[in-house]
Amino acid sequence: MSEPKRVLLTGDRPTGPLHLGHYVGSLQNRVQLQHTCEQFVMIADMQALTDYFERPEHVVKNVAEVVKDYLAVGIDPKKTTIFIQSQIPELCELTMLLLNLVTTSRLQRNPTIKNEIQLRGFEESIPAGFLCYPVSQAADITLFRATHVPAGEDQAPMIEQTNELVRRFNHTYKTDCLCEVELMLSKTPRLIGIDGNAKASKSLGNAIFLSDSAETVHEKVFSMYTDPNHIRVSDPGKTEGNVVFAYLDAFDSDKDEVESLKAQYRKGGLGDMTLKRRLDEILQTLLAPVREKRVAVTDKEALEIAIEGTKKMKTIAQNTMEAVRNAVGIVYRAE
Ligand code: TRP
Repeated sequence: MSEPKRVLLTGDRPTGPLHLGHYVGSLQNRVQLQHTCEQFVMIADMQALTDYFERPEHVVKNVAEVVKDYLAVGIDPKKTTIFIQSQIPELCELTMLLLNLVTTSRLQRNPTIKNEIQLRGFEESIPAGFLCYPVSQAADITLFRATHVPAGEDQAPMIEQTNELVRRFNHTYKTDCLCEVELMLSKTPRLIGIDGNAKASKSLGNAIFLSDSAETVHEKVFSMYTDPNHIRVSDPGKTEGNVVFAYLDAFDSDKDEVESLKAQYRKGGLGDMTLKRRLDEILQTLLAPVREKRVAVTDKEALEIAIEGTKKMKTIAQNTMEAVRNAVGIVYRAE
């Protein structure tokens, strides 16, 4: 007997267009996985509001942008169900029930949350919606009966939190209607920013977007941080922390050539411009067809796909929620 098909759930916050960090970190992986697994991709607009509650229009506007990015890289809506979190109110219902099963101190101990609290300067006073987003994320995963979440190691605490909630729920209500989930570890390292910052991110303004024009990509590549002490071509240079090499590692398919360029660079005699020209060519080749596909999709078409996907997910949500309500016993019939 063959193994049952894996059910994958991942998502992105629609806070801006997606960039090359998303491409190597998750999009590429999703394009592969959609052929062998049942795949659900959620546009986490509710979760985005935990950061952007004062600018909901910004989140709403970016939903279509994210769908267009998905389609442009080859996520196929016939194979992958793309849907919008806020349009499934059952998620809020499940979140509410799960919130009773976790303490605020446990949430504050979640390493991901701890880190993000620091980043946002929330130490003094944490918005409750923000603190509780791991619980909402546990609802995202369990409501649609996902078996696996493809993600990096940094998501491990989220999965652990989810499984704790699942066990607690099933134990408390003597049921098995929620299922534990596994992290499906993706090995691609996180892409650094073009300024050498540890993470490429939209908010830091140091990312190359899938929707960037050819000129912008060119400018960004030529502005990349290399080794500030590598002044003359003949100087020996550092390859660690050197953004051009980090991107060549991620995008150049000729690994042997990258290794020999690194050796040359360390020894001296290889200029930044030569490397940047090579990287620019590779990225232009990668992004040209993505850009072409992206402009061929209208906002209306993108939203139609997400709304269609949401309908399908709504059916799964209602089924699970019915089982959940039955398990808790919150069922009222006047007869
Ligand atoms: N937290 C993810 C992000 O910031 C988005 C997300 C929401 C998600 N719900 C999820 C990812 C469930 C995996 C599973 O990008």
